[in-house]
Amino acid sequence: MTAPARSLVHDRLATLADATRCRLLLALDRHELMVGELALALQLPQSTVSRHLRVLADAGWTASRAEGAIRWYSLDPVLDEHARDLWSVVRASVEGTPAAALDTERVDAVIAARRSRSEAFFADAADGWDATRTQLYGVRSDLAALLALADPRWTVGDLGCGTGTLAAALAPMVDQVIAVDASPAMLASARARTAACTNVQVRDGTLEALPIADRSLDLALCLLVLHHVAEPLRVLREARRALRPGGRLLISDMRPHDREEYRQQMGHVWLGFDADTLMAWCEQADFIGMRLVPLPVDPTVQGPALFALTATARPDVLPAGTLPGFHIDPERTYA
Ligand SMILES: C[S@@+](CC[C@H](N)C(=O)[O-])C[C@H]1O[C@@H](n2cnc3c(N)ncnc32)[C@H](O)[C@@H]1O
Repeated sequence: MTAPARSLVHDRLATLADATRCRLLLALDRHELMVGELALALQLPQSTVSRHLRVLADAGWTASRAEGAIRWYSLDPVLDEHARDLWSVVRASVEGTPAAALDTERVDAVIAARRSRSEAFFADAADGWDATRTQLYGVRSDLAALLALADPRWTVGDLGCGTGTLAAALAPMVDQVIAVDASPAMLASARARTAACTNVQVRDGTLEALPIADRSLDLALCLLVLHHVAEPLRVLREARRALRPGGRLLISDMRPHDREEYRQQMGHVWLGFDADTLMAWCEQADFIGMRLVPLPVDPTVQGPALFALTATARPDVLPAGTLPGFHIDPERTYA
């Protein structure tokens, strides 16, 4: 052992020659705790705990991190091998003492009190929690987190991207987003929204002749766009061409409705889509494994009910066990 290493070991040994410091370290080996919690658990004045913590930190036994006004302490998670060996010998003898057993019980009570504070909050907050979550984190926080399930290697096509909200939300989760739209105003808005996203390309083009190379997408999205196109089957064939075999398609649009006025007001060509027609188009465009689910109806909104349809671009070789064709959940479909 080199001289500096020996003196470090001696310093560390000297630090552990104090029973209180050993009790503190034992508690911090099990949990990350703040000074107040350590004082409660070990029944010591906070000033005493702070003084011993300083000695432990100076000798390299503990680590700490600040979180707002609180500082959390723990046994240093990256102790060197010598210190680990030393601590495991000392811990074995400290652990068996009556004081350490009591400390452990009280530390457990301190941790349980943390949990009960959060339980008490939620016992009263259930009625207002949705509003609180929206106020604190925004309306889409839970759904935005689901986007992290996307494969980070994916190239995603947002076909009919509109103002680019989804392209911007997807950008941090995937390798590349290609956002296509034909409206100059929408394109300008999408470009402004995604200006800071270096992996988003906003392209001017139509869904009937996508400005995207063959077999280059892992996922194609058609969200609230199909009802605007004259020939949806043609668009699905284009999406299939741009997808790699095995790539995925997600369509979300309206279920059949009778809002004739939408044709004039918003240029809708289709008053929603029925399940059979959609399935037939997907098959004709060479997709397999279709799944169509109605989306839950939101009583606070005014528009028609929506569906989501997912499908897979037929792979060159079907994986064993793959059933071509489609699946409509009989419990959850619509006419
Ligand atoms: C209702 S917006 C939906 C935008 C976005 N997907 C969303 O969910 O917010 C429909 C978009 O599709 C675009 N669009 C409609 N038909 C198109 C076509 N044939 N080719 C390219 N873009 C089209 C429109 O310009 C518009 O931006």
